[in-house]
Amino acid sequence: MTDIGSIVAEIAAEMAQATDRGRVADYIAPLAGVDPAHFGLAVVTADGACHVAGDADMPFSIQSVSKVFTLTLALGRVGDRIWDRVGREPSGTSFNSIVQLESEQGVPRNPFINAGAIVVSDMILAGHQPREAIGEILRFVRGLAGDEAIYIDEAVARAEQETGFRNAALANYMRAFDNLNNPVDLTLGVYFHHCAIAMSCRQLALAGRYLMARGVNPETGKRVISPERARRINALMLTCGHYDGSGEFAFRVGLPGKSGVGGGILAIAPGHASIAVWSPGINTSGNSQLGMVALERLAQRTGWSVFDPVSI
Ligand code: DON
Repeated sequence: MTDIGSIVAEIAAEMAQATDRGRVADYIAPLAGVDPAHFGLAVVTADGACHVAGDADMPFSIQSVSKVFTLTLALGRVGDRIWDRVGREPSGTSFNSIVQLESEQGVPRNPFINAGAIVVSDMILAGHQPREAIGEILRFVRGLAGDEAIYIDEAVARAEQETGFRNAALANYMRAFDNLNNPVDLTLGVYFHHCAIAMSCRQLALAGRYLMARGVNPETGKRVISPERARRINALMLTCGHYDGSGEFAFRVGLPGKSGVGGGILAIAPGHASIAVWSPGINTSGNSQLGMVALERLAQRTGWSVFDPVSI
């Protein structure tokens, strides 16, 4: 039997030695100040065990990883009508690209690029005050992880708001195409706040359990989403979760995964494990440099891959 705990400890020890750690995101001060030496890994397996190593209990800014949770919430709220306003194709561009929106009439390629996630925020905001929508997202994530300590880092949210000109451009552009229903500043307020959720690897891996367990939170037995939708969220994570690095991630890791510029990645081995890794240095596609290396090694050593019928 594979000893997951030893593999997790082994990988963390190897990553501590790594010299090429990528570059910490520097578009806002609270992220620019994070020490690139951090590394955390948490693996929650189907039997409920949680294996952790390194800085697995240190909260970090989950940034775009939050888009998995907002997509899940929005699917529960509006169902498949979501796909009238957001596509399901890899973008082949950076996460904040503007060019594609013009040729595609304000309909973002997928829910994980910024434009797509802003539309998803607009759906969650519908009929609510921003405060209520943000509260709903936070409650949802806390419920998934079973941890009331998860919080929104207000300094990050504020800095995102102060510097988010590109996101404002994307939102205004989509509004011009009638693909945003609420005032741009309110929708962006929701978006910036969910990007500013702070979580540890342990909390993130716990929150992702429903995606390894066919839509059910294995701890509470509560259904979060239908098995079909859980499957589809995993499919989108595999094809679009790492922006223009999604092909490389599928090739090297072979699991659905979603990255954030804070250096976190949530990866899912369906039926086996929910995995969170954090190393703040990112590559040119905006994905954690060492996070991907660590997940590649974890997948190799456990045999987990959605492309291998023996392992899954
Ligand atoms: O909106 C932004 O640009 C950031 N708050 C989040 C971007 C992000 O994490 C993209 N992922 N790699």
